[in-house]
Amino acid sequence: MALAMGVAGCSGSHSILDPAGPAARDVAWLWWGMLAGFGLVFVAVVALWLAAFRPRERPRRSPEAERRLGLRWILGGGILLPGVSILVLLAFGVPAGQRLLPLPLPGGEPPRVIEVTGHQWWWEIRYPDEAGEVVTANHLVMPAGEPVDFHVTGADVIHAFWVPRLGGKIDMIPGRTNRIRLEADAPGVFGAQCAEYCGVQHAHMQLHLEAVPPEAFEAWLAARRDAEPESLEREDAHAPARETFAEQCASCHRVAGLSDGGIGPDLTDLGARATLGAGTLAMEEGAVALWLAEHQRLKPGNRMPAHDHLAPEDLAALGAWLEALAP
Ligand code: CUA
Repeated sequence: MALAMGVAGCSGSHSILDPAGPAARDVAWLWWGMLAGFGLVFVAVVALWLAAFRPRERPRRSPEAERRLGLRWILGGGILLPGVSILVLLAFGVPAGQRLLPLPLPGGEPPRVIEVTGHQWWWEIRYPDEAGEVVTANHLVMPAGEPVDFHVTGADVIHAFWVPRLGGKIDMIPGRTNRIRLEADAPGVFGAQCAEYCGVQHAHMQLHLEAVPPEAFEAWLAARRDAEPESLEREDAHAPARETFAEQCASCHRVAGLSDGGIGPDLTDLGARATLGAGTLAMEEGAVALWLAEHQRLKPGNRMPAHDHLAPEDLAALGAWLEALAP
């Protein structure tokens, strides 16, 4: 059973033993190296322990010879052996850590920067760009096959940014910006999780991270930059939902063209995200209306006030419009 449980950790969206990028590969090698090294130490200790039970004649030694023998064990087993083991680990560990550092690259442009801020209990994601900043939440899209520098911080308490298959983790500390460089070898979807206990909904602070080909990434950014902003003037089937949003939601949430928000997640491209409530619900038809009606049951303690004073048809209309917000 122990073996089966151990082997189950070798793959899956959150396994450090299934690396998908250079930094994570170094960490995985370090892990296997340590397992092999400590396995050898364990076998040696057990062998010595068993040898102590073997009946044998104790050779007669002078007190001086006993003292020298004891000294040899202390120097060899207590200082030399641990010293060598730690030096070998250091030789693997320093390069593995180095790869996560945002050091200048030899030649070429500095990597793209993505800013991630941890909130109780969601992720704010910003793409600074000369052509205009793009903001989203809980669904991080990055280019595959090139290094990306993540600048992370916390808005309220300490969180930690961790994408097990790409490398990390790194603390998100209020008032401080930490930097980490990650790279995905190939396009794919990677699980990421807040890795520092940050309050009652720490477990529901998941990040959906998607690595896409660089051209697709540029297109993703451009679609958000060029999307037509929402407007209360627009007269279509969603007009009443926009009114409800302006009255009920706009003081916390941003939707480009309608509100600046600043407290809760930016909702401008909500319909394009994979999950709701930072991994609490899958984004499916009707999910937003369900979330609006029952978010305190689905994610108890979350910071959004209850909206049970709204009529079910208003919640349904609001949900349908928000789900349609996808550039
Ligand atoms: Cu944020 Cu744990």
